[in-house]
Amino acid sequence: MKKRLRHTYPGCFITFEGPEGAGKSTQIRMLADYLEHRGCVCRLTREPGGTPLAERLRTVVKNHEGPERLHATTELLLIEAARSQHVREVIRPALAAGEVVLCDRFFDSTTAYQGGARGMDSEVIGSLNELAAAECIPDLTILLDVAPEAGFARTRHRVETRGEHDRFEEEELDFHRRVRETFLAIAAREPERVRVIDAGRSAEEVHAEVRRVVDEFV
Ligand code: TMP
Repeated sequence: MKKRLRHTYPGCFITFEGPEGAGKSTQIRMLADYLEHRGCVCRLTREPGGTPLAERLRTVVKNHEGPERLHATTELLLIEAARSQHVREVIRPALAAGEVVLCDRFFDSTTAYQGGARGMDSEVIGSLNELAAAECIPDLTILLDVAPEAGFARTRHRVETRGEHDRFEEEELDFHRRVRETFLAIAAREPERVRVIDAGRSAEEVHAEVRRVVDEFV
């Protein structure tokens, strides 16, 4: 994605990215506790989702099953529709109110999953990402990097114990390899915004590094 100016709102926008099973939600909760102790007001949210309507779209994108195929183009448009709604209803107002927005996945996931892994056109994805995100570009993106084999094992276990159908967690290992490669390529392209943290360690060790990175920004 081309270099852009930061949004002009008083708040701070931090996104977490990474393959399945990288521990994003645990790290977001730990970071929110830390920042709240420092007096920040944090808004925890996620994509696809974050508003009632966007959460309904999330259910379709993640769990759709049955004879009617969910086409890759439809999937992309549903994700971008959910993002448009989320940005306008939640993220932008929170940034305008000076809050720290901690978002579990954002547009880099679209570049990695629909672009890198599903092979959809990266220029189309770039334009849709811009349209949906409006001026809300993350100030900082933490990429929790873990080998797909490790993340995959964790999520396979989750799918089996919950017994829930999940369109992404059921994809093959190669799909998840392409997701990871694309995330790492984004980080190499935008090293100032995207910081890579090795997530193959204990939650406490990862949190300590997340804190070090975030302290420079907040
Ligand atoms: P998760 O939040 O539990 O990781 O589930 C979200 C799933 O949706 C995850 O498998 C990745 C996928 N996804 C995309 O394919 N593209 C996107 O833009 C986003 C935000 C998520």
